[in-house]
Amino acid sequence: MAVVGTKRLALRIKPHCEHTILPNVPFRKAWHSTTAGERRGDFVYAGKPPTGYDNSAVVYCNVISPEEQEHILGDLKHIFRHRRYERGHWDAVIVKYKETELFNEPDQLSETSRAVLQRIRKHLVDHRHIKPDITWLPSHAIELHPDGELRAHIDSVRFSGHLVAGLSLGTSAIMRLQPPKDGQQEDSDHGQSGGDSDKYDDENAGYVDLLLQPRSLYVLTGRSRYDYTHELLPNEAIFVGTGQVVRRNAHRWSIIFRDSKQHD
Ligand code: OGA
Ligand code: MN
Repeated sequence: MAVVGTKRLALRIKPHCEHTILPNVPFRKAWHSTTAGERRGDFVYAGKPPTGYDNSAVVYCNVISPEEQEHILGDLKHIFRHRRYERGHWDAVIVKYKETELFNEPDQLSETSRAVLQRIRKHLVDHRHIKPDITWLPSHAIELHPDGELRAHIDSVRFSGHLVAGLSLGTSAIMRLQPPKDGQQEDSDHGQSGGDSDKYDDENAGYVDLLLQPRSLYVLTGRSRYDYTHELLPNEAIFVGTGQVVRRNAHRWSIIFRDSKQHD
């Protein structure tokens, strides 16, 4: 569908996308709750990063309250209530999902949800992930079925600028960032190349994993936004940072924030 073409830079990948299985490392850190909106290194595993990684992936925990999550989920479930899951083609970036542009927030969202989205945009500016004078694109909401997949891709650089940030809702997941693998070509219609893919091979390219709990916000700028693909690992992948098995066996919703590309 049209939205996919404009927002994601499709990479041509094999029909059965193979995910790297993470090694099972011993549990190292107790699971603990965090202060609202706190930036947490514990949720970014960069023990074997790609060469030249610029620490440009950040996760903030508990950026919204459980009540706020319920409000937003209520709004999204209402918007998606008559939609069917999109299946995608064999080379699709995303499979078994629903998505919509939140192009008219006052009509689509309750006041509580709108206030949350505004607060997140302010958080991104206040924490200097993006300049205050940018123009926000309409946010983009996705529901991923438990059997759904979000495969390695780089978001389109045609319309979207320096920042991609996502509010995760519903269930946890691991997002992996890594240089594009050989054979993952970018769609030439969508402009600029996503990195020096021929410099890397699967074994030693390195990766960065983000643990995305419900109500957390991840932020990708710099190399994380432009040079590495992002994808969600399958259900029961292990987050190497803590050794925990991460179940993605329920529906996951996300709201994605992007700035408009500056044409200067
Ligand atoms: C996307 C994407 C990640 C998410 O829509 O391009 O990468 O958190 N989504 O849903
Ligand atoms: Mn994306």
